[in-house]
Amino acid sequence: HPSNHQMEESSILKRAECRAKGGAPGFKVAILGAAGGIGQPLSLLMKMNPLVSVLHLYDVVNTPGVTADISHMDTGAVVKGFLGQQQLENALTGMDLIIIPAGVPRKPGMTRDDLFKINAGIVKILCEGIAKCCPNAIVNLISNPVNSTVPIAAEVFKKAGTYDPKKLLGVTMLDVVRANTFVAEVLGVDPREVDVPVVGGHSGVTILPLLSQVKPPCSFTAEETEYLTRRIQDGGTEVVQAKAGAGSATLSMAYAAVKFADACLRGLKGGAGIVECAFVSSQVTELPFFASKVRLGRAGAEEIYQLGPLNEYERVGLEKAKKELAESIQKGISFIRK
Ligand code: NAD
Ligand code: LMR
Repeated sequence: HPSNHQMEESSILKRAECRAKGGAPGFKVAILGAAGGIGQPLSLLMKMNPLVSVLHLYDVVNTPGVTADISHMDTGAVVKGFLGQQQLENALTGMDLIIIPAGVPRKPGMTRDDLFKINAGIVKILCEGIAKCCPNAIVNLISNPVNSTVPIAAEVFKKAGTYDPKKLLGVTMLDVVRANTFVAEVLGVDPREVDVPVVGGHSGVTILPLLSQVKPPCSFTAEETEYLTRRIQDGGTEVVQAKAGAGSATLSMAYAAVKFADACLRGLKGGAGIVECAFVSSQVTELPFFASKVRLGRAGAEEIYQLGPLNEYERVGLEKAKKELAESIQKGISFIRK
C-alpha cells in the first residue's frame, strides 16, 4: 500500500494535471536545457508568466531538483519535470512553445562557432523530437551558434516534412537588450525608453545595431557610433571574460529569453502590433536567414520587416555581416544535408 503521503501526492498531481488540461487558460511551454545556467532562471521567470498554464522542464541532468524547487512557487503554471532522452517525447507532446537553451557555453578565447561541434548534434536531436511530437509549436532557439543552429533546425524540420518558417525563431533579443542598455547609458536616459533595432545575426560582426534608427530619435558622433557598435557586438565576450571560465551570459539571457517568449505568447493569443527582432527565414537580403524586426502573431513571425534606411557606416557593416553569416548558415545546412 502506498503511504498516505504518497497517496496525497498522486491525487494532488492528478488535480493539478486536470487544472492544466481543462480549466486553466494559458499556453503550454517546454524549456529544453532547463537545468542549465540559462535554463534555471528562465524556468523561474516563465513560472511567473501569467500566460503560461503548463511548464515542462526538460534536461539530461538535474531536472527533478529544479522542478521540485520551482513547483513550490505560488503562481498559476503547473510545472512538470522530464529527465533524459527517454522522456523527451513526453516533455514535448502538446506544447505550444518550445524554448531551447540546451548546449555548451563559451569559455574565454572561444568563438561561438567553436560550440558547433557539440551543440549542432544536441539541437538536431531536440528538433527531431519537436518534428515528431509538437510540429505546430513555436520554437525559440537560444543554443549557439544561433547563426548555424537555426539553419540546422530548419533542415531537420524540412526533412520531417513539418517545416513552417514562421514558427522557427533564433533568439537575438539579448543583443537588443544590451543595445538598449548601452545606448541609454550614452544618452543618459532610462533604458526602458530606448528601442534599438539589431539586425543580421548573433555573433561578432554579424550583430548589426542600427543606431540611425534608435527610438526616440537621436544622433551619435562617429566615436559614439564606433564605441556602441563594438560594445554591442562584443557584449557576449565581455561577460565570458568577466566570468573567467565559469560560462557565458545566463541571467541577462534568461531575462531576454522571457521578454521574447512573452512576446511570442502575446502574439499566439492574438495581440496586435507585437514587433521584436529575431533571426528567421527571410527575404530581406539574399541570405536565407537574417535577423530583423518581425511581427509576432497567431502563426508565429507573420511579417518580416525590411531593414529601412541605413547610413554609410551601417551599409559597410551589413556587407561584413552578410559575408560571415553566409558561411555560418551554410555550415548549419551542410551538417544535416551531408
Ligand atoms: P549550461 O551549460 O549552463 O547549460 C546548458 C544545459 O543544457 C545543461 O543543463 C545541460 O545538461 C543541458 N543539455 C546538454 N545537452 C542536452 C540535451 N541533449 N538535451 C537537453 N539538455 C541538454 O549553458 P548555458 O550558459 O545555459 O548556455 C546554453 C547555451 O545558450 C549555450 O550554447 C550558449 O552559448 C547559449 N547562449 C545563447 C545566447 C543567445 O543570445 N542566443 C545567450 C547566452 C547563451
Ligand atoms: C551572448 O551573446 O552572451 C551569448 O551568445 C553567449 C556567448 O557565447 O557570448
